[in-house]
Amino acid sequence: MNAPAPFNAARWQGQGRRIFLQEVGTRDGLQAESAFVPTADKIALVDALSEAGLAKIEVTAFVSPQAIPALRDAEQVLHEIRRVPGVVYSALVPNVRGAERAIESRADELNLVMSASESHNLANLRMLREQSFAALAEVAAVSRRAGVAVNVSLSCAFGCPMEGDVSVDTVLDWCARYVEELGAQGVTLCDTTGMAFPSQVAALTAAFRARWPGTALTLHFHNTRGMGLANVLAAIDAGADRFDASFGGIGGCPYAPGASGNVCTEEIAHALTLMGYDTGIDLARLLAAASRLPALIGHDIPSQIVKAGQRLDLHPRPAEFEEIRQRALNRDAHRS
Ligand code: COA
Ligand code: ZN
Repeated sequence: MNAPAPFNAARWQGQGRRIFLQEVGTRDGLQAESAFVPTADKIALVDALSEAGLAKIEVTAFVSPQAIPALRDAEQVLHEIRRVPGVVYSALVPNVRGAERAIESRADELNLVMSASESHNLANLRMLREQSFAALAEVAAVSRRAGVAVNVSLSCAFGCPMEGDVSVDTVLDWCARYVEELGAQGVTLCDTTGMAFPSQVAALTAAFRARWPGTALTLHFHNTRGMGLANVLAAIDAGADRFDASFGGIGGCPYAPGASGNVCTEEIAHALTLMGYDTGIDLARLLAAASRLPALIGHDIPSQIVKAGQRLDLHPRPAEFEEIRQRALNRDAHRS
């Protein structure tokens, strides 16, 4: 058996290091809800998230309204939000049509999606990966001409629910094409169905960072198998500083058995703040925004912090506390 590495306390201390939290709840979260959240409420939620200090907000998706009716108001939402300087307002786009709509609506950044696994790409996007790449290249050209930044999100980067493991080489080969051929400013490695685990996350993060130190790397975890926060900490340990998360922990496809939401923004912000990282988040404001969700989506939300409160939200002692204390003191007095 190998001896454990010597204990290194500094490894667990944030020491003020900046971690960028990127909200995806109004896109990845709301797209999965059967209830249509009224446009005015979506706008109010995005405004509340801006005020809560998120670094980036994926506001909506410019997809086919037949495919995702929940986001059919993408134009109006992006036009009417109050833009806080410094916050990046991004939108998911599946094709050139979506890119043109998003650029017209003044999105700061376009998020393009394809999958690392052929089966998932076919199931989700109805194209081979090479066909998706060609489509992304077209979208990237449109955004370059418009001067809008491009981020590519790679689904199933940590495993595919149909094929199993996806090799590190496969993931890095696709990343190379996004960075070097498409000129993407950022890449997001997505754990679409919650298959990532901490040692795997650390290895892939370190490999990406070593190869493309100048490219913004985001990690996108779902909490499907309870490893979300552990994966975030493993990624930070390996040099990552950007994470997607959804307020309330909402999200997850309602048709996939056991699917669940993104890692929860307030849970991640709460944990990282305790550890001494600078997330830029105003937790009280974020919690106020998340607390509005159950009434809007018609069901409870996964967020543990909304349920339990913050670590130092103290509870009153029991009403009969003084009596309990006296009895305990007397017990000792009788014994001596
Ligand atoms: N915005 C608005 N409408 C769009 C659109 C876009 N970006 N892309 C396609 N459409 C419309 C087309 O106009 C067409 O409408 P019509 O039937 O009234 O003519 C219809 O959608 C189908 O278009 P088509 O080009 O045949 O695409 P498709 O059927 O192969 O669909 C997608 C491909 C990906 C565009 C569509 O399925 C989609 O938007 N899916 C959402 C994917 C998603 O967001 N997944 C979750 C995140 S990964
Ligand atoms: Zn996701």
